Amino acid sequence: QWTTSSIVDETVAAIREQVGDRRAICGLSGGVDSAVAGALVQRAIGDQLTCVFVDHGLLRAGERAQVERDFVAATGVRLVTIDAVDRFLGALAGVSDPEEKRKIIGREFIRVFEQAARDLQAEAGAAGEQIEFLVQGTLYPDVVESGGGSGAANIKSHHNVGGLPEDLQFSLVEPLRALFKDEVRRVGLELGLPETIVHRQPFPGPGLGIRIIGEVTADRLETLRAADAIAREELTAAGLDRDIWQCPVVLLADVRSVGVQGDGRTYGHPVVLRPVSSEDAMTADWTRLPYDVLAQISTRITNEVPEVNRVTLDVTSKPPGTIEWE
Ligand code: XMP
Repeated sequence: QWTTSSIVDETVAAIREQVGDRRAICGLSGGVDSAVAGALVQRAIGDQLTCVFVDHGLLRAGERAQVERDFVAATGVRLVTIDAVDRFLGALAGVSDPEEKRKIIGREFIRVFEQAARDLQAEAGAAGEQIEFLVQGTLYPDVVESGGGSGAANIKSHHNVGGLPEDLQFSLVEPLRALFKDEVRRVGLELGLPETIVHRQPFPGPGLGIRIIGEVTADRLETLRAADAIAREELTAAGLDRDIWQCPVVLLADVRSVGVQGDGRTYGHPVVLRPVSSEDAMTADWTRLPYDVLAQISTRITNEVPEVNRVTLDVTSKPPGTIEWE
């Protein structure tokens, strides 16, 4: 039986063994997994690690500030933030297919990392150590669902498994590859990460890009970000964060419906609330949220987000649905 501290000790030892005195970079997605992976590797190799946070414009509200402030304060990690909004939106322009989006986002991530590594290398000068390793927060369920486990079908290309380019210039360090989410959270707390990071809702690497059904544009992202922030705020205010696994908000960007607001007709977009309960994300049930909480989320979203005139609830378990819509 592994205790959390023995998982930490053994993983730290394994990372030291793998990386030696060489250098690594870690991409932070804003999610729990990459934060814990980064903190573990930081514990193992200290300043040989640089974390890279890519602002790709597909983030939740407040995400960048949380990484730049709270994560750095908790870990003391070296952090570089890269503004890549235009690059990602450019690459995603005109693309609606879910797998294509995932692959584009995965590819652009890696390219941005490679550029970051080159820049860091250049800063270090000729005497600096080459950056050889890329840290990723891949979990066991990601491995299985991307077809890496024994005999599993490829359901989705999770960006950090199936979306890697074939000419990847890094060796991967994946310290969470054998763990489930609850173990990852315990490891995060053991490493001193704040509850606000460790117990936040899981967030997919491709971010809001796979929660817009249809083409991803800056305007649509702004709409979804606002709706998502309201849903998270209300769930937190109702004390429900620990009762749900996550509650994606999905924007049906190519669907419009007629509504009425004030004196006028509206012709806006629906969002879908997708609250789920789960142990490990491999299976999930839809969460029976209290009606008053649903009502409050619905009222606020339709009042505060002008492009959204309808809020719907997804009552599908996994299987047959997946948690994310793409
Ligand atoms: P699905 O949609 O496959 O999601 O039922 C299962 C869990 O994984 C998250 N998810 C991802 N996490 N990269 C990630 O790091 C990804 O590409 C990705 N896609 C889905 C999802 O939010 C849920 O918690």
